[in-house]
Amino acid sequence: MQDLDEFTVTDAALAQMANTADPRLRQIMDAAVRHLHAFAREVNLTPAEWLGGIRFLTEVGHACTPIRQEFILLSDVLGLSAVVNALHDKTALENGTQSSLLGPFFREHAPEFALGDCIVAEPGAPEIVLHGQVTDAHGVPIPGATIGVWQTDAAGQYDLQAHDHETMDMRGNFTCDAHGKYHFRTVRPLGYSIPLDGPVGAMVQRQGRHGMRPAHIHFLIAAPGFRELVTALYFGDDDNIASDTVFGVSNSLVVQFAASDPDNPIPGLRSVRYDFQLGHARADGDGRVGADPASLVAAE
Ligand code: BEZ
Ligand code: FE
Repeated sequence: MQDLDEFTVTDAALAQMANTADPRLRQIMDAAVRHLHAFAREVNLTPAEWLGGIRFLTEVGHACTPIRQEFILLSDVLGLSAVVNALHDKTALENGTQSSLLGPFFREHAPEFALGDCIVAEPGAPEIVLHGQVTDAHGVPIPGATIGVWQTDAAGQYDLQAHDHETMDMRGNFTCDAHGKYHFRTVRPLGYSIPLDGPVGAMVQRQGRHGMRPAHIHFLIAAPGFRELVTALYFGDDDNIASDTVFGVSNSLVVQFAASDPDNPIPGLRSVRYDFQLGHARADGDGRVGADPASLVAAE
């Protein structure tokens, strides 16, 4: 037996978990317990605050549905998702385009489009064109790479917010041509607020944060033998470009409309050109930081 105090209880908990058969689970839980205990000691956590935290996490869980993942949102606003993304990028075999958050609005089974199509059913704003090439890390084109895109409309709403929950709009999948080239039409998305009507939004507001994401278009790019790329392009003229609530913006992902663009595949439309680079896949698999919310809750 030992005298339990706020320090020895940490040793006791670690000792009880020491027989965990899975070494990685043991490593993760060991560190989690050490950091959790140290956190409680550092802030001198009171019973009321402990209960407040339990209540908050309970509300976060209750807010999760097949179309809303409040835990991922919590991870995003705390910067944890961005940290995991950055760690994940460091495991790549080759340096490709930087990754960015998948976010909670990604959906599986988006419609298939032909190159040049518009992903917006009723644009209601001037069309723009996005174009470029998908290559390997050395600039060699990847024919037939697939590109999934999703974005808000010109008013800053995803399809899930602007329409009913079944309608898919402002999103779609493309297949690059024999030279790895892609182009599609869309509207310039508007920056938007993360959902503020749940427990995570309430926390963000209590922290005096604006809750905005700068205007962006998400991309999920894949090709056999290559590491899947989850990223986004951010419009540099957005007022919140330097204060993204979920820490997804990095300099290499900031784009501007071209002043002149001799390669514009649809002359007359304002264009953004961006070339993506994919690293080769690892033999042991690469993983994805994020998921369609529907895949994380049991069917109701
Ligand atoms: C998004 O870009 O779709 C997003 C990412 C994190 C939180 C909210 C939205
Ligand atoms: Fe987004």
